[in-house]
Amino acid sequence: MRTHYCGHLRKEHIGATVTLCGWVDRRRDHGGVIFLDLRDRTGIVQIVSDPERTPGSHAQADSLRNEYVVKITGRVTPRPPESLNPKLPTGEVEIYADSIELLNGVYKQLPFQVSAADTETVREELRLKYRYLDLRRERMAANLQLRHQVIKTIRRFLEDEQHFMEVETPVLTRSTPEGARDYLVPSRVNPGDWFALPQSPQLFKQLLMVAGCDRYYQIARCFRDEDLRADRQPEFTQLDMEMSFMSLDEVLALNEALISHVFKTIKGIDIPLPLPRLTYAEAMDRYGTDRPDTRYGLELVDVSDLVKDSGFKVFSGAIAAGGIVKVLPIPEGNAAISNVRIKPGGDLFKEATDAGAKGLAYIRVREDGEIDTIGAIKDNLSPAQKEELLRRTGAKPGHLLLFGAGDIPTVNKTLDRLRQVVAAQLGMIDNSKINLLWVIDFPMFEWNAEEKRLEALHHPFTCPRLEDLDDINNARAQAYDMVYNGLEIGGGSLRIYQREIQEKVFTAIGLSTEEAYQKFGFLLDAFDYGTPPHGGIAYGLDRLIMLLAGEDSIRDVIAFPKTQQARCLLTGAPAGVDGKQLKELYVASTAKPKSSTKGEGS
Ligand code: AMO
Repeated sequence: MRTHYCGHLRKEHIGATVTLCGWVDRRRDHGGVIFLDLRDRTGIVQIVSDPERTPGSHAQADSLRNEYVVKITGRVTPRPPESLNPKLPTGEVEIYADSIELLNGVYKQLPFQVSAADTETVREELRLKYRYLDLRRERMAANLQLRHQVIKTIRRFLEDEQHFMEVETPVLTRSTPEGARDYLVPSRVNPGDWFALPQSPQLFKQLLMVAGCDRYYQIARCFRDEDLRADRQPEFTQLDMEMSFMSLDEVLALNEALISHVFKTIKGIDIPLPLPRLTYAEAMDRYGTDRPDTRYGLELVDVSDLVKDSGFKVFSGAIAAGGIVKVLPIPEGNAAISNVRIKPGGDLFKEATDAGAKGLAYIRVREDGEIDTIGAIKDNLSPAQKEELLRRTGAKPGHLLLFGAGDIPTVNKTLDRLRQVVAAQLGMIDNSKINLLWVIDFPMFEWNAEEKRLEALHHPFTCPRLEDLDDINNARAQAYDMVYNGLEIGGGSLRIYQREIQEKVFTAIGLSTEEAYQKFGFLLDAFDYGTPPHGGIAYGLDRLIMLLAGEDSIRDVIAFPKTQQARCLLTGAPAGVDGKQLKELYVASTAKPKSSTKGEGS
């Protein structure tokens, strides 16, 4: 139907007769001469219909409205100097339309303006309900393009340069050990049995290593029924990889090459390699989190030893109970952080208590080097302790020190949160920076207080560091996460491939051999038939693309995402189903029927 795409026309085409198809982005009437912005996937080009020069198209041009679908034939002409548009790639040319054919109109009122010229913000619910219109808009169309380019770049690199092979793994499967809630699918032909949708292809990719696949990857859809946030969706896409016969350093180097290749190809940016590596212990100590944003300083300082004997009960008590006292030192220029905000009722106080802190102690260093505090801290620090506190935290006149005191996880969580809020408010975050790093040496296990047992921090197939095997409960894992400006974009590990180590790990998490076989027997069986050393990683592709696109939510880089309430506003899913369907599946719902929904399954 067409000879060219709109966005591809340039000076070189001047003189050519072209046929274009697309949507009317907007229409302007300048004293009888009609200008149309014609849009397709590649961009916009200006069409002109003049009652004198192109009488054959004028009546039709006059009748067009926004978002009508048209086919236009005309001659590519240079724009007059006064109407050159340097902002448009096609801004040096316009098309004088000899004929315009209306292919389809718009028969309802548009719920919002689609035009690139329209900058009005539209409510997200409305955008999601009419997603096909939203995706026509410049920003979303660019995000979809970017997503396509990133995935294409990854495929080319892994397949053509690194010998990876893409293998599809099942979507109807058994539960995988990633730790979130499963989405379940009842089996009609096996009454009472259920499939789980994969939280990741973890077990299958390990089986592919047993199968001799050597280097596997997949752009894999994963499903997790968990509480949603801006960076979490119930179904999301992983770049999933697994490799045989590679050391941890080799795995990290290959991934660094991949990610730097993506940045270079997509953004033209050189990422200095190798990426910094932080151990988990160091990350928690310095930043209070295992995914630190290192674009700014504000590092935490542990002062537990210094204040453990102080008369200030909040500090000494916390340490006596096995906890810690840490400081978030905030340099000069913190005038925006008034005492009112730190004291009860203030927003920073609330941040702290929301994170579990019981309060928020602080010190301000005055110009004369003296300190101002609330309550009892000052009176309970000796001059030597005060001096050491200022020395260790690097505090100078004008500094503000915020204290976290209590159990280790709560202190870290509180100060991590405050660190992020303060950095954002004081304008300390340089948005042009790209800080990528590895966090390594995660602990193998964490304590599940509810179930009173250790559980695998990553998953039970992660290999401990071999030098830690004698004290398995406190072992570090050969696991790694990639962190991008404070967001975890990928994580993986070397896997256990030797039976004795696997049994040790099952014992540590209180899983008997019998239970382990019940859950993962097929994998453990496979491991007895010649398993190579192997390891892998999975990236949250949506998150990576969100960051590359400069968006704040992964919903903006997914064509048809769900809301925070896990709903699709476009199709209305999830929705009720016919009672007959449920019967065939041997499923009965215990949910109270909603008045507005059809069927029994709602
Ligand atoms: P993990 O559970 O860490 O590892 O997941 C890998 C990456 O997937 C992304 N991610 C998500 N993105 C959007 N929405 C979600 N609900 C969501 N959950 C996770 C994160 C995360 O870093 N099988 C292991 C990988 C391995 O060991 O090879 C796994 O799935 O960016």
